[in-house]
Amino acid sequence: MDTTPVVVRAYRTAHGKEDGVYADVRSEDLSVPLVNEILSDTGLSGDDVDDLMWGCAQQREEQGNNLARIITLLSDLGESVPGTTINRWCASSAQAVISASDAIRAGQRDAIIAGGVENMSRVKMGANTAMHPRMNEDYNLAALQMGMTAEEVAERYDVSREAQDDYAFRSQQRASEATKSGRFEDEIVPIDNGEKQVTEDEGIRHDVSREKMDELPTVFKSEGTVTPGNASQISDGASALLVTSEAFAKEHDLEIMAEIGNNSVQGVEPEVMGIGPIPAVRDILERTGRDIDDYDLVELNEAFASQTLYCQEQLGIDDEKFNVNGGAIAIGHPLGATGARLPVTLIHEMIKRDVDRGIATECVGFGQGAAIEFSR
Ligand SMILES: CC(C)(COP(=O)(O)OP(=O)(O)OC[C@H]1O[C@@H](n2cnc3c(N)ncnc32)[C@H](O)[C@@H]1OP(=O)(O)O)[C@@H](O)C(=O)NCCC(=O)NCCS
Repeated sequence: MDTTPVVVRAYRTAHGKEDGVYADVRSEDLSVPLVNEILSDTGLSGDDVDDLMWGCAQQREEQGNNLARIITLLSDLGESVPGTTINRWCASSAQAVISASDAIRAGQRDAIIAGGVENMSRVKMGANTAMHPRMNEDYNLAALQMGMTAEEVAERYDVSREAQDDYAFRSQQRASEATKSGRFEDEIVPIDNGEKQVTEDEGIRHDVSREKMDELPTVFKSEGTVTPGNASQISDGASALLVTSEAFAKEHDLEIMAEIGNNSVQGVEPEVMGIGPIPAVRDILERTGRDIDDYDLVELNEAFASQTLYCQEQLGIDDEKFNVNGGAIAIGHPLGATGARLPVTLIHEMIKRDVDRGIATECVGFGQGAAIEFSR
């Protein structure tokens, strides 16, 4: 039996701005429509699905209570499908995809829905103060604030404000073009927010002006370089992939979108957490014997323009293959959803361009990086 893990469906919600279109929509209600769409679209039922693996970074308040299990109960999956909620901060749903594909490759499972969610409007980022006291002694916690780590990357590796703003401007332009040309339509499942069907990312600035970006004040450090224009947006959204074995896909007559290849997670110095993709991607390259030029497309999460640019430069990624439809600076970064959103966008774009190989990677707060490769 072929246990190669494959992706047969890949969906996401359009992303909302903080306190925007999803302010009244709970995380479960962002997630359930994706799960139900996968089932109705494939004709599968809960009897066919072995598990729901769901990433979420801020697992407290209404995102506590093992969100994944609540989603199985509220969705068409039903009581027989278990659910586990996974936390690797910004790579939480990447970890869901990794855990799903590893379990399938090992022959332990046949079909898993892997994804994640974050409603940052309803459960605010960084409000957990119950940190272990030794962390206060061993680390300067203020320096580990995400925005400060972006400033540290900019300073240590000499990434200028101008370069960051140029990059962020490009991200907005690419995301706007992708939206206007309908590039995201196949991947977005509309969400009813009680007033309308949300079908487009709310944070994209279709009228972005490079000149106006020069005027934006820095947020985290007075003499710094990181502004609301070149940082990822605080946002709400969910993403999901149906991961199965190749044998299961064939048996159920499901078209394979992509094969899941190697994955890697690595730790880095927490003060420069944004460099995490560098060792994660390099580890995959070493283990596969591939070169970065062997990949046709790379999706690297734009947590901040400073770390995105430094990672791109260090990994030697060609601009024409890199975040071709923009990224989190424009689309938004709902923490627990992003690790699956990157593969969703990557795989749809690989299909549209008819290319063979892609990689999705992100940095993670407190110093980690994750990467997953996909091929067709
Ligand atoms: C940077 C950050 C603090 C900004 O938050 P914010 O101030 O609420 O952001 P806003 O979107 O309201 O933008 C602030 C202002 O800049 C303006 N602005 C933002 N981007 C702009 C752009 N590209 N061009 C022109 N103006 C822009 C907004 O219109 C707004 O103007 P206003 O005050 O006149 O309304 C927030 O986005 C953040 O923390 N991002 C990082 C999140 C994070 O750490 N994630 C984890 C990463 S690992």
